[in-house]
Amino acid sequence: MLITVPNLLNSEELAEARGLLDAAEWVDGRVTAGHQSSQAKDNEQIPEGHPAAEKVGDMILRALGQNPLFLSAALPLRIFPPLFNRYSGGQNFGTHVDNAIRQIPGTPLRIRTDLSATVFFEDPDKYEGGELCVEDTYGVHRVKLPAGSMVLYPSTSLHHVTPVTSGSRLCSFFWIQSMIRDDTRRSLLFDMDRSIQRISGELGEHEAARKSAVELTGVYHNILRQWAEM
Ligand code: NI
Repeated sequence: MLITVPNLLNSEELAEARGLLDAAEWVDGRVTAGHQSSQAKDNEQIPEGHPAAEKVGDMILRALGQNPLFLSAALPLRIFPPLFNRYSGGQNFGTHVDNAIRQIPGTPLRIRTDLSATVFFEDPDKYEGGELCVEDTYGVHRVKLPAGSMVLYPSTSLHHVTPVTSGSRLCSFFWIQSMIRDDTRRSLLFDMDRSIQRISGELGEHEAARKSAVELTGVYHNILRQWAEM
């Protein structure tokens, strides 16, 4: 399941983030790549632990914690501290798959990468190319979102970023370990949660329907209790 989260960051947050990111130092992106992906990767990154990366990363984490669509879709257990990359002058990232396990820098914690996330910091009309292409059983999804929006996709997917032929593409990327490892199960819970939210808002004074909505909410939580890993 590929999900778009529109307007994760508002315009003030975006402006503050852009100021910090544009002023940061950028290095060769191969520093965080595994062996196979380092051969496919050609971009720049802000070093992990850089103050600008930490500040904007915290801003993203705060926004995620308050975003009902993200919380319902990802059912997050752990989130990797956001990283930042930039592509320009024909840079691209060839087809690869993200590492399954990642050590959280400076901690003994590791996360299993169930979901990959990209937050866009530049509007699509400011650069050519730079589409994130995610392969799944239904074909290739091409993603290029407005500044402040995010895409979430299963980390099991092969993906690549097409060459940026003019302007520059500025994004944050990170991974999420979900309480629900399996994408199919997570998608079922997401669909159920959304349906319950939608009907609950429309029931008015229909007592029997209200009771059904409460019961369905109970079923949702009881399935989550059965499937969640912490
Ligand atoms: Ni990747």
